[in-house]
Amino acid sequence: MPIVEWNDNYSVKIKEVDDQHRQLIDQINCLHDAMKQRKGSEVVGTIIARLAEYTQRHFMTEEQLFLKHGYPETVKHTHEHNAFIAKVAGFQNDLKAGRVMLSMEVLNFLKEWLIGHIQIVDKKYAPFLNAKGVG
Ligand SMILES: [Fe+2]
Ligand SMILES: [Fe+2]
Repeated sequence: MPIVEWNDNYSVKIKEVDDQHRQLIDQINCLHDAMKQRKGSEVVGTIIARLAEYTQRHFMTEEQLFLKHGYPETVKHTHEHNAFIAKVAGFQNDLKAGRVMLSMEVLNFLKEWLIGHIQIVDKKYAPFLNAKGVG
C-alpha cells in the first residue's frame, strides 16, 4: 500500500517536472515499503541516498527553468530547496553514524515536505512558466 499517490492536482502542467514528481513519490513509497519490511540500515541508506540524489537533480531542473525564464521567486524557492537538501543530508549522516533509525516520523517529514512543496511552492511557478510556453 503506497502512503502517497500521484494525484492530478499535483500537476504543474510541465511534463518533465510532473514525471520527476511522480518519481519522487515512488521513492517515498519505496522507502515506506523498506521500513515496513524492516529492512536494515544498509538498504534504507541506499534508498535514501537515491532519493537525495534524485531530489537534487529535480531541484536543478526547476532552478534552471527559473533562471532561463526569469521567475521572480527564484531566490525564495531555491532557499526552500537548499534547506531540504541540508535536512536530508543531516539525516543521512545520522543514519550512517547509527545515531538514528528510519522512523515513521522521518518518513512523514519527507512525505509532507515533498507533497506540501509541490502543492504550494511548485504550483506557484506553474502559471508563470506555462505562460512562457513551458509545458
Ligand atoms: Fe518540485
Ligand atoms: Fe521546487
